Amino acid sequence: WILMATARSPTNIAVVKYWGKRDEALILPINDSISVTLDPSHLCTTTTVAVSPKFDRDQMWLNGKEISLSGGRYQRCLREIRSRAGDVEDEERGICIGKEDWGKLHVHIASYNNFPTAAGLASSAAGFACLVYSLAKLMNVREEQGKLSAIARQGSGSACRSLFGGFVKWEMGKDSTGSDSIAVQLADEKHWNDLVIIIAVVSSRQKETSSTTGMRESVETSPLLHYRSTEVVPKRILQMEEAIRTRDFSSFARLTCADSNQFHAVCLDTSPPIFYMNDTSHRIISYMEKWNRFEGTPQVAYTFDAGPNAVLIAPNRNVAALLLQRLLFYFPPSTDTELKSFVLGDQSI
Ligand code: DP6
Repeated sequence: WILMATARSPTNIAVVKYWGKRDEALILPINDSISVTLDPSHLCTTTTVAVSPKFDRDQMWLNGKEISLSGGRYQRCLREIRSRAGDVEDEERGICIGKEDWGKLHVHIASYNNFPTAAGLASSAAGFACLVYSLAKLMNVREEQGKLSAIARQGSGSACRSLFGGFVKWEMGKDSTGSDSIAVQLADEKHWNDLVIIIAVVSSRQKETSSTTGMRESVETSPLLHYRSTEVVPKRILQMEEAIRTRDFSSFARLTCADSNQFHAVCLDTSPPIFYMNDTSHRIISYMEKWNRFEGTPQVAYTFDAGPNAVLIAPNRNVAALLLQRLLFYFPPSTDTELKSFVLGDQSI
């Protein structure tokens, strides 16, 4: 027999960024972060997990290619889920798995991303969220979403935020075991669903410095990161929560852009410096700044993760349509600059 479960998880885009760990093994961050989860029909991972007595080892395929599960992150997620597994019974097919059996059974995992892996579009976030969620479904884990987020966090920090839709805060927590370092939903996907997110895919090449390595080097060498995590982010988190609660786009955009720019400043303050953005990214920032200044109030928010692709957030469909027109005019698709649009919520443009 074979038993399967499938799940789909969207990626999330941080508007107050996570950068820096206080515990590398447990993936505990040095500051809180806030993100917005994209609509699952756009950037997402779909994972099917299967168990059968015929499987002789755990195996995983990503986009059809086998990848190694020997890394600590996969092992930790698998172990945590197995230790919480429940009884599973399928009377019709005569399958009965007791919770104590899960330790002896092996799983096969097949995962697909519908977007470029490791190009700064947070593929690990959707990937680990989906892995944990599908395994929990297969193994009948009856934990609340917050607890599952703490497991996904041990796969990749940002993954914990993808277990919820809408606006999500990852609370850094205080406990040394990481039990309180979990994601909480600030507002669901309906709360501010006239926002439109457009991702300008500037390059789908794999980034040179992974987030994991980059943030380790920043923690070790950047004085600005220490200032950011202790002095700037705690206040910014409160302001961002308020901007989201009141749907105050001006404040939301101002805080989002400032946080992205400070994160990239930290990367430059790291020794040796890390460059995630390229010339096109810089041109996009200059253009958005000019537009916002010309209008007198922010029209569009921009943010860049650990890669050159721009995530642009417009307050409504009209501005988004205008933004797309302007992007296509100033940054026409070419081999280097490819633009794709994605939307949040029920909106489409
Ligand atoms: C810039 O979650 O990919 O996207 O925890 O080492 O797997 P690990 O790092 P990861 O880092 C994401 C960094 C970021 C900001 C963010 O998503 O908050």
